[in-house]
Amino acid sequence: MTDILEKEILAGIAAAADEAALEAVRVAALGKKGTISDLLKSLGAMSPEEKKVNGPAFNGLRDRVQKAIVAKKSELEAAALNARLASERVDITLPVRPEPAGSVHPVSQVFDEVVAIFADLGFAVAEGPDVEYDDYNFTKLNIPPDHPARQMHDTFYVAKQADGSQHVLRTHTSPVQVRTMLNQKPPIRIISPGRTYRVDSDATHSPMFHQYEGLVIDEVTHLGHLKWVLEEFYKAFFEVDKVELRARPSYFPFTEPSLEWDIRCDRSGGQIKFGTGNDWLEVAGSGMVNPRVLENCGIDSSKYQGYAFGGGIDRLAMLKYGIPDIRSFFESDLRWLKAYGFAALDIPTLDGGLSR
Ligand code: PHE
Repeated sequence: MTDILEKEILAGIAAAADEAALEAVRVAALGKKGTISDLLKSLGAMSPEEKKVNGPAFNGLRDRVQKAIVAKKSELEAAALNARLASERVDITLPVRPEPAGSVHPVSQVFDEVVAIFADLGFAVAEGPDVEYDDYNFTKLNIPPDHPARQMHDTFYVAKQADGSQHVLRTHTSPVQVRTMLNQKPPIRIISPGRTYRVDSDATHSPMFHQYEGLVIDEVTHLGHLKWVLEEFYKAFFEVDKVELRARPSYFPFTEPSLEWDIRCDRSGGQIKFGTGNDWLEVAGSGMVNPRVLENCGIDSSKYQGYAFGGGIDRLAMLKYGIPDIRSFFESDLRWLKAYGFAALDIPTLDGGLSR
């Protein structure tokens, strides 16, 4: 009789899919009203002979069932633990955070790089508006109306104001020189990156582009200082140990004498390298500030002189980051921005690294 019961209970134990099902089998067999408990209780009413036979049989049944339950329980616990470990698995090769969607535009990056380098040389940042007085963009810079140099600038003119004053979209960052000299007493040492505009568009010209302007005014300044500052700048900017600059005579109405600077480079192998090679690349315009400009801006030219320099930011970005067409800067193509953009926290510093 107990054989069938034992088979049934053991089959129930074996079939239990989880701990709750196993507990149900245990209660049905060994609980207060369980089948085995009932059998054990029934011993009390039996004769000694019957007890002799049934006692060990019932107790043996109980022990075997108990053992089977304990074994099944640890089997189920191990399975549950393995399932949990599998479901809570952490893939430590996944990125901690999803990649940020935005990036810093190469022009903004180069702005920051230029500022970081000149700040280290003791220059302060100065700014001026994109829509500028014709007077500051030209006249105070020794380019009076009808001066032929105005033609070099392909200017966007803004409609005349009611009072007859004329504004332009600034054709260079040099009007920031004027603004600074009108508002500050020497010594002056500023750097001014910003937007500039000319009516011009092809692979190397954009109607809106970016320049940086440098201006130093003091009692003793000369072209040697200018050359040293430019060398230090290009070394830091192109992240090379040495650069070689070559000066060519040039003409800007607001500097006298005027010089344009070429940097020695190597263009063999489809890549441009600075500091070596037999090629020269034009990088900046400059000169000693024309005394007329100093006087136009209220600075005593018998006491002070200064030097100024300026160049294209877009051009620097193209050279440093290998960008062939200036127009791609302004097309807002997300694929391009992803390829050439910089991470938001890659803030350029001289000691931490300009670009990574
Ligand atoms: N403003 C000049 C240009 O746009 C560059 C320049 C700046 C030249 C400062 C001399 C001094 O071409």
